[in-house]
Amino acid sequence: MKNFDVAAVVSGGASGLGEATTRALAARGAAVTIMDLNQERGQALAAELGGHTTFVRTDVTDEASVEAAVAEATGKDRPLRIAISCAGIGLAQRTVGRDGAPHELGGFTRVLGVNLIGTFNVLRLAAAAMARTEPGEEGERGVVVNTASIAAFDGQIGQLAYSASKGGVVGMTLPAARDLSSVGVRVCTIAPGLVDTPLLGSLPEEARAALSGGIPFPKRLGRPSDFAELALAIVENGYLNGEVIRMDGALRMAPR
Ligand SMILES: NC(=O)c1ccc[n+]([C@@H]2O[C@H](COP(=O)([O-])OP(=O)(O)OC[C@H]3O[C@@H](n4cnc5c(N)ncnc54)[C@H](O)[C@@H]3O)[C@@H](O)[C@H]2O)c1
Repeated sequence: MKNFDVAAVVSGGASGLGEATTRALAARGAAVTIMDLNQERGQALAAELGGHTTFVRTDVTDEASVEAAVAEATGKDRPLRIAISCAGIGLAQRTVGRDGAPHELGGFTRVLGVNLIGTFNVLRLAAAAMARTEPGEEGERGVVVNTASIAAFDGQIGQLAYSASKGGVVGMTLPAARDLSSVGVRVCTIAPGLVDTPLLGSLPEEARAALSGGIPFPKRLGRPSDFAELALAIVENGYLNGEVIRMDGALRMAPR
């Protein structure tokens, strides 16, 4: 898809990787709907970007909430062709803690709810809306980009719930692409390594240096713009489909 004169939805679009992607899409002329729980940041970003960028307070785990945001996006003056899922949360807890306590069931369910079920919720509702649009020359109607993590493959100690949720996103990618081939919607997933978002930005410089020291090359944390560029490259390359792409400077995470 070379033409960004389309509508797009970005979940988690008010912060970090999602914010960078919202900015990149808006800079290319897309009419972006920011779907995020964080009303303050979302509204401020939409106001800053102006034009066709809007914010709809959205909880990705909630059916009606995502339906309303997708309806807002489809109400714009151009077809919905792009859905990027960046909403996500973390949790650090061991399967059995040092004190012998088992991993909380509620925490596991919460992380799976946002990262896996939320991603699925955006994927299915956005794809259904795309399926109702007029196709392009090769039958293409749109593209969905999910966000996993390299923790889907090399989950560290304490990352059980997070890794399981991201492993689910990886596992969903190919069957979703196969399912949606009949309506011309592509599905790819980005598995980022360590990216310098507000989350990592809160760490002291020393800790950030230690983290980036383990990255073969480039010897730095990823930038949110690296993610946004890859997301846009996936949108632009109409032959990429059903694939999970690691974006990590060749980092393979150790157990801890
Ligand atoms: N930063 C990294 O190093 C890194 C690495 C690998 C994967 N990821 C993944 O990338 C994605 C974005 O991470 P980030 O670092 O930009 O984090 P972030 O915290 O900066 O942004 C996440 C956004 O998601 C929103 N959100 C959370 N729960 C939501 C919900 N239920 N509904 C709607 N919005 C919700 C938050 O309000 C926030 O704006 C996440 O899925 C994360 O797991 C990040």
